[in-house]
Amino acid sequence: MAVNPTACEAVRATHRFNHGLSKDTFRAALDFVMNRIDHHLEAFTDRFPSAHSVDQVYQPVDNASLDYYSDWTSSFWTGMVWLAYELTEEPKYRDVAERHVASFKTRLEKRDILNHHDIGFLYSLSCVAGYRLTGSEEAKRIALDAAKLLSMRFQEKSGIIQVRGYLEDRGHKERGVFIIDCSMNVPLLYWASTMTGDRTYYDKAYRHMSQVMEHMVRDDGSSYQVYHIDADTGEPTRGWTSQGHADEDCWSRGQAWVMYGLPLSYRYTGDKKFIDAAKHTCNYFLNHLPEDLVCNWDLVFTDQDGQRDTSAAAIAACGLLELARHLPVLDEDRTLYENAALAILGSLAANYTTADDPGSNGVLGHGVYSLPKNLGVDECNIWGDYFYMEALVRVLRDWKPYW
Ligand code: GLY
Repeated sequence: MAVNPTACEAVRATHRFNHGLSKDTFRAALDFVMNRIDHHLEAFTDRFPSAHSVDQVYQPVDNASLDYYSDWTSSFWTGMVWLAYELTEEPKYRDVAERHVASFKTRLEKRDILNHHDIGFLYSLSCVAGYRLTGSEEAKRIALDAAKLLSMRFQEKSGIIQVRGYLEDRGHKERGVFIIDCSMNVPLLYWASTMTGDRTYYDKAYRHMSQVMEHMVRDDGSSYQVYHIDADTGEPTRGWTSQGHADEDCWSRGQAWVMYGLPLSYRYTGDKKFIDAAKHTCNYFLNHLPEDLVCNWDLVFTDQDGQRDTSAAAIAACGLLELARHLPVLDEDRTLYENAALAILGSLAANYTTADDPGSNGVLGHGVYSLPKNLGVDECNIWGDYFYMEALVRVLRDWKPYW
């Protein structure tokens, strides 16, 4: 990746992010989310909402479930319940979240559908969050065990965390393959390093994110979703897409994952290269939005009538806010990124929630799981709901990430 300064100029030249919204707008938006949580807390105490809704309704699934491709998604609901507890300190939320932590413990002990890199998503929002909010040593220990399992996916020669399969399986079809979503899994490794003082967690996370910057983020700030580095030689081969429109286009959610993962890497390492890369990816994203600032499912599409991915918009808003907080107060881009995040959130709140659909148990409509697979298209996504709530919390208080 080499930074192209003209991309930054283009985003600076835009006045589209002057939103004029007050905190009341975001408070009302968060009230709606809390209302939805309250209505569905009982139904989703021992089971979890599916990855995507069906006709705007999440189906109940077990913690480790392949139904609706939910193998990586159960912690997003737990994260919402922890956020509700953090906001209110009401025991009803803590009770449910603690039951979830117990279920994540069992899942880890059984190694139930954990042969993949999304251990980071699963254990950051359940057990790291639980430890942060309650000081539970048990939650901390589970999260550290999960971090150990994730760290074992690191491949020395290629310097990456392999997406799926056992590393010793030399014939595995995804040997040496990593995907951009993992940018949000590596914070669990950084966290484990700060908890234990064991530098190897940090090194693995740092090396993985450096490979992401080097190979997945392109010179114009867009990104590949998937990349392969030869596990024997360390030679990079090529990048492609799985959920995006075409290999050389830019899947919106993948872009959002890296927009958020890069400033989180900066938070833990203080290495400014992650800030420069984060700005670059954010500028590309902001330069490829339709009129109402809620991205289409692939950034190659900028038309107002296109199929949105609201979950990508919500993740991107969190990334923009995380980036902004690490920029000096006098950095002119700081206000720009903050305003862009607020404008995106305002647009989501105004036009993309399920507020008009009392039969729905989701929060944000118009998400997409995988358009090429015709999976969860124009539906709620449980991670979209989580990141929308997280972004609103970030706007309304000084929030310490669970990541
Ligand atoms: N991490 C899988 C996805 O974003 O669809």
